[in-house]
Amino acid sequence: MVQATLFLLVLSLALGAHGLAVRKCDLVGSWKNDLGSNMTIEAMDEICNFRGIYYTAVANSPNPIRKSPLLGSQQHHKQPTFGFTVNWSFSESTTVFTGQCFVENGKEVLKTMWLLRSYAKDIQNDWNAT
Ligand SMILES: *[C@@H]1O[C@H](CO)[C@@H](O)[C@H](O)[C@H]1NC(C)=O
Ligand SMILES: *[C@@H]1O[C@H](CO)[C@@H](O)[C@H](O)[C@H]1NC(C)=O
Repeated sequence: MVQATLFLLVLSLALGAHGLAVRKCDLVGSWKNDLGSNMTIEAMDEICNFRGIYYTAVANSPNPIRKSPLLGSQQHHKQPTFGFTVNWSFSESTTVFTGQCFVENGKEVLKTMWLLRSYAKDIQNDWNAT
């Protein structure tokens, strides 16, 4: 019993020390990806929902690219997971992103994946729209 308690104490101390070493990853601000797209996430509200603007550098659309609104939410961890939806303002399509905010060598990095839903003119064309 005593041994088990000690083990737990040592474990929680180790976790505490590790937790202190990790700086909080803050989603609010301007971000740029490797393709040159950028986004700005505005203030986080009291329940960690946020709004922002996504400005893509690449698009599979005949229309000129314009800034598009995004809406999302994040978890509370120091390196939080998050998700957001981009409502493309220049095409009839929607993208969802999910990812996590990491602090790597003192620098904040977002690792994300996305799904793009394009408009299908009818249900027969649904199969290749996402
Ligand atoms: C953001 O991305 C757009 C579209 O590629 C580009 O025109 C603009 O210069 C970028 N802005 C910044 C601050 O990187
Ligand atoms: C989403 O985009 C459409 C088309 O641009 C627009 O009518 C609508 O208001 C947008 N919604 C939000 C929440 O910005």
